[in-house]
Amino acid sequence: MTICFEKPDQLIVTQAKGMNMQPDANQLVSNEEFAMLENNAFGNSFRDYEADGARKDIVEQHYKLSHINQTYDFVKRMREEYRKLDKAEMGIWECCELLNEVVDDSDPDLDEPQIQHLLQSAEAIRKDYPNEDWLHLTALIHDLGKILVLPKFGELPQWAVVGDTFPVGCAFDKSNVHHKYFKENPDFNNPIYNTKNGVYFEGCGLDNVLMSWGHDDYMYMVAKENGTTLPSAGLFIIRYHSFYPLHKCGAYTQLMNEEDKENMKWLKVFNKYDLYSKSKVLVDVEEVKPYYESLIAKYFPAKLKW
Ligand SMILES: [Fe+2]
Ligand SMILES: [Fe+2]
Repeated sequence: MTICFEKPDQLIVTQAKGMNMQPDANQLVSNEEFAMLENNAFGNSFRDYEADGARKDIVEQHYKLSHINQTYDFVKRMREEYRKLDKAEMGIWECCELLNEVVDDSDPDLDEPQIQHLLQSAEAIRKDYPNEDWLHLTALIHDLGKILVLPKFGELPQWAVVGDTFPVGCAFDKSNVHHKYFKENPDFNNPIYNTKNGVYFEGCGLDNVLMSWGHDDYMYMVAKENGTTLPSAGLFIIRYHSFYPLHKCGAYTQLMNEEDKENMKWLKVFNKYDLYSKSKVLVDVEEVKPYYESLIAKYFPAKLKW
């Protein structure tokens, strides 16, 4: 595989120290004790991109690179490359463990290994929606696409993996965080791509829209191509959970069709848990693992192509 990128110096994928799946017992919490938090691990409110925190500059630099480099052509190339699913064969839980090696630089709230974020969101949602097992599993796997930063999966730079997503091929809406950096994106001045609907039309459906390339679209592709039986709302959540301009600000809604509007209701439910269950309180991985393995067996084959 040949993917050439300029590797941004400031954005370094942090390798977690070992695969510590068994955190300190006094930090563990059972799902009965799970509570939503008002502040993130750094004491700021969630998604506050202006707060002076340790991560502010890293996060802003991240968006600068993303907004300059995510073009229509770039996304098309990424989709073609990753549609081959020729990087690895592994099961879902195996991938959850693999993801532990990744820290997300775009996230101003999160400073824990990824498996904790997966389990914290899944356990919080399980507590409030006990009968929607597909939603628990969706939460568990929603970020697995972040393995794209690992060498075996192309070692993509963080700006091509994480952060808020947005459509390419039409004008970049003002509600995108750090919008000013889009001015340096070649598509910004291209008349084919810079009108409100660009290459799309009203009601065309999000399925027909190219989104900036990242872990959302990759994991959607992996789940779908491997024949998951997750309902369409689950796939929608995986694919658009970082599309904050849409689900937080209501931008780009003209591109949605009726099915998108239905699925959006579940995405809004999910999003609360994606955001507010991030905490310093760790889930006991071994305690909850059997439950999630049963869900994986219900909705996925034992091995998937990635
Ligand atoms: Fe995500
Ligand atoms: Fe997430």
